[in-house]
Amino acid sequence: MLKTQRLEEQPELAVEAKNLTKRFGKFVAVDHISLEIRRGENFGLLGPNGAGKTTTIRMITGVIKPSEGYVKVFGIDVAKERKKVLKYIGYMPQKFSLYEDLTVEENIRLYGRLQGLTGSLLKDRVKELLERFYLWEFRRRLAGKLSGGMKQRLALATALVHDPTLLILDEPTAGVDPPLRRKFWEHFRELNREGKTILVTTHYMDEAENCDRLALMNRGRIIAEGTPREIKRRALGGDLVEIVFEGNLDPAALPGVKSVMEDSSERYLLVVEDAGRDLPRIVKKAEELGAKILVASPVHVSLEEAFIRFMGESE
Ligand SMILES: Nc1ncnc2c1ncn2[C@@H]1O[C@H](COP(=O)(O)OP(=O)(O)OP(=O)(O)O)[C@@H](O)[C@H]1O
Ligand SMILES: [Mg+2]
Repeated sequence: MLKTQRLEEQPELAVEAKNLTKRFGKFVAVDHISLEIRRGENFGLLGPNGAGKTTTIRMITGVIKPSEGYVKVFGIDVAKERKKVLKYIGYMPQKFSLYEDLTVEENIRLYGRLQGLTGSLLKDRVKELLERFYLWEFRRRLAGKLSGGMKQRLALATALVHDPTLLILDEPTAGVDPPLRRKFWEHFRELNREGKTILVTTHYMDEAENCDRLALMNRGRIIAEGTPREIKRRALGGDLVEIVFEGNLDPAALPGVKSVMEDSSERYLLVVEDAGRDLPRIVKKAEELGAKILVASPVHVSLEEAFIRFMGESE
């Protein structure tokens, strides 16, 4: 185990941002956002290109200063005590700069030295990371000669070199093929289990389902926040169910139905308050009214669908 400086008593919040704002001239890239990332969770920051994700991350890591508001990492104000904060942060920027004319191993070693590791501590750590991220057999290859996926793996290894407690990953799986993306998420889960907090941005909605909590950004603002399930429920205003029936029936009048979303002759998608509670009531009521229910089942809503709705509302 690597011996780096640790916070003996970390506050519950890994990241706390209040009214965080960044202006570039007159343009507001990040517009008064507030965020709370709990210790040990996997928090996803999502949003279209230009939403302000990277700018937010750069303020959290202290690369740039907020125009307004503040951000604290483990209770420490980043703008005031950046050096202190950096010990706890492992940062994998969106455009990670590896030294292309150094080998895989030399890259990790260099980043380790920059973090103040030396001697056998550094040596052991480099070996551990090479093994952990399946880079051992490529350790003598020049970073410039690596495939995209391997580069991302190396970038992750270097971000972890000083065993940080908060890992900030800006699109770590961009350009990575699906099997390796899955592997990356297994790594993230494992890191969470080790007690690390992860803040990750991604454009892949299927990945975002793996996050404990999410914030969706658009035009510098947070337009939705919560667990993936909460976000989906909020986007629709409830749960989605499907019914197919024979006979005469007005679906809008069934119990628990908040809206009728789509219909094709006798198939309806209904938004209900609570699928578990309302489906049996719907079936019963329909039968009382003399209709025959052929299908009544909850429908899986994708995050993508939920986000498209939120985006539509925020435009
Ligand atoms: N240094 C800068 N000077 C001027 N404008 C900037 C600067 N950095 C970012 N911006 C602008 O701020 C907005 C937010 O950019 P940012 O990189 O934070 O978005 P993002 O959500 O990370 O997008 P992507 O998904 O493409 O990475 C964009 O319109 C961008 O052009
Ligand atoms: Mg970005």
